[in-house]
Amino acid sequence: NELVFSGVQPTGNLHLGNYLGAIKRFVEMQERDAQCLYCVVDLHAITLWQDPQALKGQIREVTAAFLAAGIDPKRSIVFNQSQVPQHAELAWIFNCVARLGWLNRMTQFKDKAGKDRENASIGLYDYPVLMAADILAYRATHVPVGEDQKQHLELTRDIAQKFNNDFGPSIQAHGHGEQFFPITEPLIGGPAARVMSLRDGTKKMSKSDPSEYSRIALTDDADAIAQKVRKAKTDPEALPSEVEGLKGRPEADNLVGIFAALRGITREDVLKDFGGAQFSSFKPALVDLAVETLAPINAEMKRLVADPAHIDAVLADGAGRAEAIAAPTLDAVKDIVGFVRRG
Ligand code: TYM
Repeated sequence: NELVFSGVQPTGNLHLGNYLGAIKRFVEMQERDAQCLYCVVDLHAITLWQDPQALKGQIREVTAAFLAAGIDPKRSIVFNQSQVPQHAELAWIFNCVARLGWLNRMTQFKDKAGKDRENASIGLYDYPVLMAADILAYRATHVPVGEDQKQHLELTRDIAQKFNNDFGPSIQAHGHGEQFFPITEPLIGGPAARVMSLRDGTKKMSKSDPSEYSRIALTDDADAIAQKVRKAKTDPEALPSEVEGLKGRPEADNLVGIFAALRGITREDVLKDFGGAQFSSFKPALVDLAVETLAPINAEMKRLVADPAHIDAVLADGAGRAEAIAAPTLDAVKDIVGFVRRG
């Protein structure tokens, strides 16, 4: 049984990388008729301080982006993490399974904590364990994410494996077979698994980059998109006719990758049409394609965030359906671990 889970942080500035690397692929998984859960991970968001008033808006905005991109809240389960208590509960139990050495290897913590590591929140350090709990509370088999999440998904697999091993006899005694948690498959791929900054092709496009020109936001209008693509850094060469020719040209590679992902084709296909073209002709084609794709999403997001009561109802409905899956998992985990249960 395929079960898909993924999450997006409500930290503001949703961008083209989040769309192409994650949200667009969430919709594709839904179209394959898998049971999908898409979560606005507000517990993760507060690992860095968030303004409480702004956070509510950011949670609704990510929800609106999901719906505007084509996630159907009837077929998929759309919810926010803090409404389903099993995430935090399972994270605690996983805190006692995961090893300090495993977390010490997490590169995203090192990046996000920066130089002042002593002053980072414990939550930021523990972030990947909560992520494992998100996924495994549903015993999800597939997780579509961008490439930056690869290491976290490896940790999820390690936690699942160690839990299955540490509690093997108890898992069997409770009638769950050999393996209680699945070894989750990360789904990372396509031409936009790692969308880079428009200002620097060696840096990831990110919500926290201080330059607005580094990213195309999902809230950008056509003019902003055109201006940002026009100003995007490039080199002076024409586009190559083969993908090999993109090696050592990170900015060219990134723009071709974005074009390919927006169109749903490969870099090879893009270069069949644009090999030999100058950026002065490729960029306008990219603007047209980006605007054509993003304008309807942008308009629908605006319409949806204007009706917060509707969004909140979608989230409440999703939370109920999510909890109906997660609660039995937690019941089983508590039995397996050996807790005395209320009758
Ligand atoms: P977040 O909110 O940082 O990013 C959301 C999704 O967008 C992808 N992404 C990118 N993809 C391509 N190019 C980029 N430049 C780019 N930037 C971001 C991310 O890989 C992600 O898929 N830890 C997760 C949230 C999370 C989660 C989970 C994901 C919490 N629990 C359980 C999957 C399963 C994160 O930081 O997302």
